[in-house]
Amino acid sequence: MRELKKLFENNQIWAREKIKKDPDFFRNLSEKQTPKYLWIGCADSRIPANEVLGLEPGEIFVHRNVANLVPHTDFNCLSVLQYGIEYLNVRHVIICGHYGCGGVAAAMKNAQFGLVDNWLRNIRDVYSREKKELDSIAGTIQKYQRLVELNVLHQVMNVCHTTIVQNAWAEQKKLSIHGWVYDVATGLLKDLNCCISSLDQVEDTYHTLKLH
Ligand code: CO
Repeated sequence: MRELKKLFENNQIWAREKIKKDPDFFRNLSEKQTPKYLWIGCADSRIPANEVLGLEPGEIFVHRNVANLVPHTDFNCLSVLQYGIEYLNVRHVIICGHYGCGGVAAAMKNAQFGLVDNWLRNIRDVYSREKKELDSIAGTIQKYQRLVELNVLHQVMNVCHTTIVQNAWAEQKKLSIHGWVYDVATGLLKDLNCCISSLDQVEDTYHTLKLH
């Protein structure tokens, strides 16, 4: 219990520091949140979204799960996406994977890990769809790193395939979906140069609305 007591002490120190810098800090936040960004990242403890981006509470809406996946049947992730886009009016959705992701590593093994295998199936599907490129990569580490990147790119497209995002674009909302990778060994982000801002950048099989 002593360990947890320390967390409460930390919390009191943190709240005091915030008030010292800005006496209205919590009062303003208690009234509303107006984040411009939605972060969909891995649950990994080494990647706290606010901290790596230098953002304060209230500045980024966050959803995290094992290996930053956006399955089209996951109502948890989709609810965050809908709330972020329709009610908070975020301008940017960032899918951020990371090198050294245990979820991606597990999905590359011919082994079972229990319940989580059903979740990691999504990554095996990415591997299967990108098998030609991945199997042509000689080094295991390089192949692993590329799968981390490809997984992010597939999740970016999964976000774009939702009616939530397509409706926002149809309403002329400014909304971009980005794919990034964080390197836990350097603390730095890498932009995969994947920025989707309109329906014409999406494969027509997944269009739920007609392009004008
Ligand atoms: Co991870």
